[in-house]
Amino acid sequence: MTSEEPGDSSVVRRDRFSGGPARGFLSSLAADERIFEADLAVDRAHVVMLAERGIVDGETAGAILAALDDVEAAGHGALPDGEDVHEAVESAVIARVGPDGGRMHTARSRNDEVAACIRYRLREDALSVVEATLALREALAETAAAHVETTMPGYTHLQPAQPTTVAHHLLSYEAAVARDTARLLDAYGRINRSPLGAAAFAGTPFDVDRERTAELLGFEGVLGNSMDASSARDFLAETLSALATHAVTLSGLAEDLVVFSNRGYVDLSDDYSSTSSIMPQKKNPDTLELVRACAGDAVGDLAALLTTLKGLPRAYNRDLQRAHRHAFDAADVVGEATAVAAGAVRTATWNEGALAAAAGEGFSTATGVADLLAMAGVPFRTAHEIVAAAAPDVEDGDDPATVAAKLDAAAEGVLGENLRTHVNRDDLEAALDPARSAESRDSAGGPASPAVAAQLDAAADRIDADAEALTAGRDALAAAADRLETEVDRRV
Ligand code: ARG
Repeated sequence: MTSEEPGDSSVVRRDRFSGGPARGFLSSLAADERIFEADLAVDRAHVVMLAERGIVDGETAGAILAALDDVEAAGHGALPDGEDVHEAVESAVIARVGPDGGRMHTARSRNDEVAACIRYRLREDALSVVEATLALREALAETAAAHVETTMPGYTHLQPAQPTTVAHHLLSYEAAVARDTARLLDAYGRINRSPLGAAAFAGTPFDVDRERTAELLGFEGVLGNSMDASSARDFLAETLSALATHAVTLSGLAEDLVVFSNRGYVDLSDDYSSTSSIMPQKKNPDTLELVRACAGDAVGDLAALLTTLKGLPRAYNRDLQRAHRHAFDAADVVGEATAVAAGAVRTATWNEGALAAAAGEGFSTATGVADLLAMAGVPFRTAHEIVAAAAPDVEDGDDPATVAAKLDAAAEGVLGENLRTHVNRDDLEAALDPARSAESRDSAGGPASPAVAAQLDAAADRIDADAEALTAGRDALAAAADRLETEVDRRV
């Protein structure tokens, strides 16, 4: 064996476990590229702590840390063969330092090591998705601010239900995505704990400083029970659950935009559309259909993860090697879908004319008429009955006088009274106007412009607060990276 090439004899498996038909199956080295940088950071923090504690002498620590720099420069692709990145990096260090390089693995196991690596890496991925959700929320809020007065049909069961505004509709998604952000940030707090020092699961007789490695890696404290520290993967489940929930939110937004573009209410930018290879006239909302589909990936990843974790006994089982890939995959897919959705929202053009024309379709002002009667003293249930009796006769395109006449007839039938006994014509015509109908619904959270202004303010406030949380999270990670670099530089 040359000093550069550990060859077939792995530092962990040696000759006895060195090969066999399942060798490739056993190895996670290729997938571990995702945690290559994390592994180097975890190694560095561990070696710095070992040196500070006098568990490894300063000279050996310096040589190991220098070797780690070299391994990093060579890149993941240059690692020797191995069961995983942890073993391969250790082999590469020993190849450079000699047997003393093997002191790096004092007082730890790959079990606490890999748990630390995936937490370290997932922090970054979770924060990237948080950032993408913020950009989407900004796009939704900015577009909403431009369309406070743009009346549109609101739907239930895909049928015209009540007139609302584009602002009100888009802010409904900002509110949902805000909760998605909050769930990710909440999960982040539990990702960000250090399992290092748990060793295999049962701790170590060495006088390690778990708080110190946590600090050097930017973790907010340690996981208190060493068996929990090396086994726990619920942080993956909750992060992936938050990602899948967000993907479902995105799928609803994408679906609405697909339907609205189909009806001519919104024009998607060509950048977020595609065409047909045979039908030259087509402009299809493919990008949003793909956003809608990403929920399938994320929900599938969540199911795969939970199924992998279900029924695992304490403490470490190799099943865990196949767990974190699902969270990383979902972070990639959902992060990209979020960014695409933000771009599609930002560049779409809402067709105010088409929306206004459609806003009153299907007698969507019916509830407003019933509300008007109820406000005039008619019991709501009776008002509902009167309007329901008229509804089948009301046709799209009826002018207000025609609708009023049909309502009069219905009131005569139900109450034996003309509608004018209860409401004047001006108020009735206002209720029948889609824009005024939306504007009349000024309860908190409703579509009336003052209510929407309050929602825009609330959205801006929570976007700012979450952006601050994102910055604080990233600053803490950057500060920890600087601390670690300083400690490493002092020793090499
Ligand atoms: N590569 C493994 C993982 O990702 C860590 C190896 C721990 N192996 C073991 N036999 N205890 O989970």
